[in-house]
Amino acid sequence: MENTTGGGGFLHRLFNRGAHESSASDVQAVSAAKSKLDLNDIQGLILRGYKMPMVRHYLLTVGDQAAARKVLGRLVSGNESDAPQITTAEEWQVGFEAGPGDNPTERPHYKPDYCLNVGITWPGLIALGMKDRVPTLSFKSFEAFTAGAAARAALIGDVGPSAPETWVGGFGKGSDHVLVTLHALTPEGMTSYSDRLSALFAEGDAFREIWRADGMALKETVDGKPTFTSKLHFGYTDGISRTTIRGGPEKYAPDHQQPCESWLFVLQEGADSYFVPEPRELGLNGSFAVFKMIVTDVVGFEENLQKNKGKIDPELLAAKMCGRWRNGVPLELSPETDSPTGVAPDQLNNFGYVNADGSGDPKGVRCPVGAHIRRVNPRDQPVQGQGEPGGSNNAHRMIRRGMPYGPVYDPTKPYDGMERGLLGYFINASIENQYEFVLSHWVNDSEFAGAVRLNPKSKDPIAGTPDPGDGVFVIPQANGAPPIEIKGFSSFLRTKATAYCFLPSITALKFISNLG
Ligand code: HEM
Repeated sequence: MENTTGGGGFLHRLFNRGAHESSASDVQAVSAAKSKLDLNDIQGLILRGYKMPMVRHYLLTVGDQAAARKVLGRLVSGNESDAPQITTAEEWQVGFEAGPGDNPTERPHYKPDYCLNVGITWPGLIALGMKDRVPTLSFKSFEAFTAGAAARAALIGDVGPSAPETWVGGFGKGSDHVLVTLHALTPEGMTSYSDRLSALFAEGDAFREIWRADGMALKETVDGKPTFTSKLHFGYTDGISRTTIRGGPEKYAPDHQQPCESWLFVLQEGADSYFVPEPRELGLNGSFAVFKMIVTDVVGFEENLQKNKGKIDPELLAAKMCGRWRNGVPLELSPETDSPTGVAPDQLNNFGYVNADGSGDPKGVRCPVGAHIRRVNPRDQPVQGQGEPGGSNNAHRMIRRGMPYGPVYDPTKPYDGMERGLLGYFINASIENQYEFVLSHWVNDSEFAGAVRLNPKSKDPIAGTPDPGDGVFVIPQANGAPPIEIKGFSSFLRTKATAYCFLPSITALKFISNLG
């Protein structure tokens, strides 16, 4: 059993119809329908990691309403020569020219040279005239989305220097209508598709660009050549944890976690905990995403590691804070070294915290219960109200699609004045029950951890927002030795922008466009 919060099914309870009233074939049919994903109707970003090294995000405000609706339609017309097309979750698509290094005879499996996606905020849907033109419009299960990121910021810890008043470029001010995200394989590709998009946005005063930002994978020198990596600022390796979706297009090496039900990420009939937004043409096959720009204080982070070197080796402290060594090896599989023998690369996500019989690492001696990856995805560790040893806590999972911005940190020039951070999306079907739940109950609280008592002041040492200078991180030790306490640090993150977006399906974009 994966979790206890959604058990029984919201719609089943609503209609008072239990499984015992359905025939076995009914149940099989529902389950097959639930897991069948219409890949060419779903935006690709939701179900696929593009693995492209550069990204540009545009924030647009609607100018002329009718022209804006028409432009959205041209992004899904199927006519690539008229306008760049939204990338779906279909196998890398027919319709794209072969990218560098692709074998054109292998069509349609080659990778496109760009990927394009679009998110619309609630003020954006209003500005597009949806409320006036679609009397049945309803997002009633999704109040966080309609309230918007600024109204919900305090709930998830975005206060003080991360508060909405400090956000850049119109975020949270009501003019943040549409986010367009363009990934590209090469700088030339980025420039050419970006120019086409800018011209398209301006046609008939459809949209005005009010902000843009670029992200790029960090590089390191391999065999004398600069090479893209999956490293993040703070030096950690990303791209190892996977969110496997039942029926999804990407296949990963099996791990200890159950696959997630697809309705956690794609809005579908029969979901356990929400009503699909109305009208159906607009809601089905959509999703929600939290767009974030986060500044990472690399100097503060490194200084904190060094400041505590009398208590714990700086690299071990970095590993304890995250739950993985900086090279990605998880503490659960290798608590003492980042270079274990016998752990294959495809096994780096194959671990849990607490076995079915309660053994494993229930007290966090290998990986602290308060470490970043153990808080944001407790896997098989029972946490308040849900989960059982050996099971999966999937109800609150998210899909992360992010990319760093700013140059690689050079420890010999710590005060180079350059800003570094992360740009990207946390994708989920319910912003309340997934993104906001994780940040408010697991990242910024100490009460969630079931039987394990955490220091009441402790928060996630990477993503948490302690009061300035008041951070607490406790590292349990083996054999009853007293824990190591790291104290007195501030948050290493600052939120610079957030938008709660709806990621419409291809059908939905056509529906909006056809409103005339
Ligand atoms: C709002 C802030 C953040 C949230 C909600 C968040 C959430 C998550 C989630 C859900 C995971 C997957 C864990 C798993 O499946 O085991 C994860 C992994 C990770 N996060 Fe964060 N994160 C945030 C910020 C950051 C930042 C700023 C950094 C560092 C720059 C970071 C570094 C990592 C690393 C290194 C991993 C492991 C990656 C992997 O296993 O592939 N996170 N985070």
